[in-house]
Amino acid sequence: MPLLHPSGGLFYHLRAWRWQATRWRPFHSDVARWLDAWQPANAQLVLIGPSGGYALNARFLARFQRITVLEPDALARHLLGKRFSDFEFEFADSSWLAHSVGPAMLAQRYPDAAFLFCNLLGQKLTGQGAEHDRQVWLGGLQTALQGRNWASWHDLASTARRPSRFVQLSLPQSEPLDDLLAHFWLGGELEIHDHECAGMLPQSPRQYTLWQLAPGRFHLVEWLQTSLV
Ligand SMILES: C[S@@+](CC[C@H](N)C(=O)[O-])C[C@H]1O[C@@H](n2cnc3c(N)ncnc32)[C@H](O)[C@@H]1O
Repeated sequence: MPLLHPSGGLFYHLRAWRWQATRWRPFHSDVARWLDAWQPANAQLVLIGPSGGYALNARFLARFQRITVLEPDALARHLLGKRFSDFEFEFADSSWLAHSVGPAMLAQRYPDAAFLFCNLLGQKLTGQGAEHDRQVWLGGLQTALQGRNWASWHDLASTARRPSRFVQLSLPQSEPLDDLLAHFWLGGELEIHDHECAGMLPQSPRQYTLWQLAPGRFHLVEWLQTSLV
């Protein structure tokens, strides 16, 4: 991971230090609500891309007896350990995850775990095979995790334009990205960066909120969960 990559590395931790108590707080409250509602019965949790754990909380982590962390950023691992010093995390390599067989390997390596993707699925992964076609890789992930407990929050779109409405949204199934955006940005032109992960688990209920990452930078974030208990 390059040191100053905007979705990870030093730059991201500086943003977290600057904004987590203010601009990021409403978003983190929404993530906490989503985590409270996700109740997999597994004793083991695999956290994927948690960074410094800025969106996580001890109440959620305490539900699991064993927590494995897949996070290549060494500083993020350090900050996560410091932030939740009462927990013992098992850090593991995930340089294979972006590979086309990465999703199948994930399911095989952790046969008894629940998986939490921490704003990873709309980001560029580091490691072997990182230049993959995202739609193909995400299709492989959904297939590999069929019948497993997993959840994800992920960026669907980001933009410099301030949303017209800061609201939360729940939907019974997926909607086209343009229709989703229209719930939050009313009228006019909207230039977005498409994170290319809309439409996962199309028949499942889903939730949406907004995250103001930095002044003039707004993200539409989706929450998906499977829970087979
Ligand atoms: C947008 S950041 C995550 C934000 C963080 N979850 C939060 O709530 O603040 C994306 C994370 O994915 C991690 N990442 C990148 N490639 C990865 C891989 N192959 N396996 C696991 N994590 C990866 C990055 O190091 C980075 O911490």
